[in-house]
Amino acid sequence: MDPNRLKGKNILITGAARGMGAANAESFAAQGANICLGDLDREEAQKVADRINNADNGQAITVKMDVSKREDNAAAVAATVEAFGSINVGLFNAGLNKPKFFMDIDEDNWDMIMNVNTKAMWLGMQEVARQMIDQGPMDGHPYKLINVGSIASRKPLIDVTVYCTSKYGCLALTHCGALGLAEHNITVNGYAPGVVVTPLWEQLDKDLVNMGFKERAGQAYDDIVENFLQIKRVSYPEDVTGTASFLASNDSDYMTGQMIHVDGGWCIQ
Ligand SMILES: NC(=O)c1ccc[n+]([C@@H]2O[C@H](COP(=O)([O-])OP(=O)(O)OC[C@H]3O[C@@H](n4cnc5c(N)ncnc54)[C@H](O)[C@@H]3O)[C@@H](O)[C@H]2O)c1
Repeated sequence: MDPNRLKGKNILITGAARGMGAANAESFAAQGANICLGDLDREEAQKVADRINNADNGQAITVKMDVSKREDNAAAVAATVEAFGSINVGLFNAGLNKPKFFMDIDEDNWDMIMNVNTKAMWLGMQEVARQMIDQGPMDGHPYKLINVGSIASRKPLIDVTVYCTSKYGCLALTHCGALGLAEHNITVNGYAPGVVVTPLWEQLDKDLVNMGFKERAGQAYDDIVENFLQIKRVSYPEDVTGTASFLASNDSDYMTGQMIHVDGGWCIQ
């Protein structure tokens, strides 16, 4: 790992207290970036920030934020700028899921998932881009917005209809954001994981058993690996950090409007 690859990049990551957000925060900081970790759970986020600050490279701060609130996104951007002087990259990672049989979907389920996965991404993109536009051109490299999609951005999956809708929305925000922000020297790309062992997936696994869709814990993992993945294992947060780092780095300067699948080949099945 090049400890200077992300030197000079100040990066806001939402949903950074655990899972892939935390893994990316630690990976980016180890490559020299300064990180603002935004999460509902600031206590857990602070533990990640402490690990970063105790290591010998990029620095970290935390903010308590609900990504679905515009004022929290604006405050997270302001905190990043106050701590590090500017913002170069926004990684919109916070997300959640709650499976339902199609006919059981209600407004609460719809609003909860759409607000955090899609509406919040739009709000975060806008608030970060507003600051980038105010900063003007900085170092000859574009500013970068990175959206976290999913295999569910591309494939219809049974019993996670609202999650799929929300993640198809993340793909649309990536495409439309790239069109709308190009004139401001801001690129918009994303990455789309498949099955990643994190608290989100562990909860999903339990929910699928509780609703009677799967018979036993871990069955969802096994079924997906056997039937859909070309690389015959589930993934871990560390499996996405290389792609996320590439998207945050100058190596991706000539890309915009792309969603890279990091899903063990699920998307081609
Ligand atoms: N785990 C998977 O298999 C998988 C697969 C594809 C895509 N994804 C996507 O990757 C992203 C990260 O997922 P993960 O598996 O690491 O999840 P996770 O549950 O481990 O972590 C999500 C983080 O987001 C935070 N969060 C949730 N709601 C929030 C809100 N309203 N405001 C601020 N923070 C909030 C949580 O506190 C948590 O720290 C999500 O967008 C998810 O949809 C996950």
